[in-house]
Amino acid sequence: MTTFYLTTPIYYVNSTPHIGHAYTTIAADILARHHKQRGDETFFLTGTDEHASKVYRVAEEQGLDPKVYVDQIAESWKRLPELVDAEYDFFIRTTDEGHTRFVQDFIQRIYDNGHIYQDVYAGLYCVGCEAFKTEAELVDGKCPEHDTEPEWIEETNYFFRLSSFQKPLLELYGARPDFVLPRFRYNEARSFIEGGLQDFSLSRAGQPWGVPLPWDQSQVVYVWVDALINYLSALTYAREGENLREKFWPEARHLLAKDILRFHCVFWPALLLAAGYDPPKQLFVHGWLQLDGRKISKSLGNVIDPLDLVDVYGSDAVRFWAVRAVQFGQDGNVTLESLHDRYERELGNDLGNLVSRTTAMIARYRNGRIPLSSPGPELAGPIASVQRDVPARLDAYDVTGAIDVIWDLVRALNRYVEQTKPWELAKDEARAAELDRVLYDLADGLRIASVALWAYLPRTAPQILRALGQPEDYAWENIAAGRAVSAEGVEAASPIFPRLEAPTAAA
Ligand code: MSP
Repeated sequence: MTTFYLTTPIYYVNSTPHIGHAYTTIAADILARHHKQRGDETFFLTGTDEHASKVYRVAEEQGLDPKVYVDQIAESWKRLPELVDAEYDFFIRTTDEGHTRFVQDFIQRIYDNGHIYQDVYAGLYCVGCEAFKTEAELVDGKCPEHDTEPEWIEETNYFFRLSSFQKPLLELYGARPDFVLPRFRYNEARSFIEGGLQDFSLSRAGQPWGVPLPWDQSQVVYVWVDALINYLSALTYAREGENLREKFWPEARHLLAKDILRFHCVFWPALLLAAGYDPPKQLFVHGWLQLDGRKISKSLGNVIDPLDLVDVYGSDAVRFWAVRAVQFGQDGNVTLESLHDRYERELGNDLGNLVSRTTAMIARYRNGRIPLSSPGPELAGPIASVQRDVPARLDAYDVTGAIDVIWDLVRALNRYVEQTKPWELAKDEARAAELDRVLYDLADGLRIASVALWAYLPRTAPQILRALGQPEDYAWENIAAGRAVSAEGVEAASPIFPRLEAPTAAA
């Protein structure tokens, strides 16, 4: 049996989730659901990164003990996957005891393997990035991503000998040309490694919040190291009594946005090698959702709350728009108008109307019974594309390209209605068999589209199958023509995406 292990980044809990975070979670859920449909043994991990200094500072500002603060805010982060119907297998928090224990063990291994030394760090630190910065990385003395001046830090802490991992990393990249996708991100990571690697501080001195170093309790593990380890630690305690690591680690795939490429594509495999573990199988780096050309982010203050969108449009529409509006992998601008437009044009007209019309015609012309017939050739092409191209595209993390293929089938079904004109066939008794076939093809085509759409629209797909009296079985093998059953009692379905007021405020 094939196994599939997928992770999202773990999100900082210094504020509540916005649509940018929802974006990665949605894409991950689509991929995980699709693999479940294919019968793969799937494990989908998401969670929160809680030991950041910025988290500690927010707790302080609110006069709260940091643990009390993170326990409170973690709840709103747990609601994020629920809100967008992401079916994760485990929600990790870096304050979990199982995680902290594993981090200490992991760091100790690196220490014992001789890759850690003590030195003085003097330089700039951006709390927004939770990272040390060189002058060259700043624009007008500020971190370009957070638009803030980094802080000067001078302390004795422990360094990780990243420099000695240049060769092993280049070997890894050489041996695995698909280690990082898309290709231009692979090139970016690789040329960063080729440019020479500098050792970095793996601990912070005098920080009261974090995982203490096992050999020097006055220091805590640098938050990025603590955070990256989650991908492995979760497998050691997510399910009591089960060793998930053996099964899933060799299949580990990480989704992340481009701003955290170096941590994931360079530091993380080096840390794993240093601790004696294998690097993950693959990393997919996606772009940013932007408003007016700027990344949607808390520090830039241009956030869209996914809750507001789900309230109005429903989670399926938000999922659909998120992956359709921007080619997954690229940056792209989003607007509330584009959500409204996709909702109306594609979900409402292309899909919703098709369901209403098809069920209404079955109810009217065949008394609610789907006539059994053998499938005609007209839809064979688009169905074969779904069968073949959707898995291929999703194997390449192309969640945008795969929905395009499914949508081609939805549009082909609409064209089929226009071309065959069932309302005219219905007027002529001599053409009853023809009408049977058309109605069957429509029901069968909608059934196939629903199975394929389930990964994207987990609420809508069951609605359509129920309206057509078809079994709710999402196994990928059901993507084949001629499997619709002859259900009775089909009624004209009410609109699944009812019309809504257009948004008033431009986003
Ligand atoms: N805590 C670190 C990640 C540690 S992973 C070991 C972090 N957290 S974060 O809260 O800033 O979330 C980063 C992730 O959220 C990005 O990698 C991306 O997956 C998602 N996004 C946040 N804003 C986004 C956009 N505007 N657009 C696309 N994705 C966005 O970094």
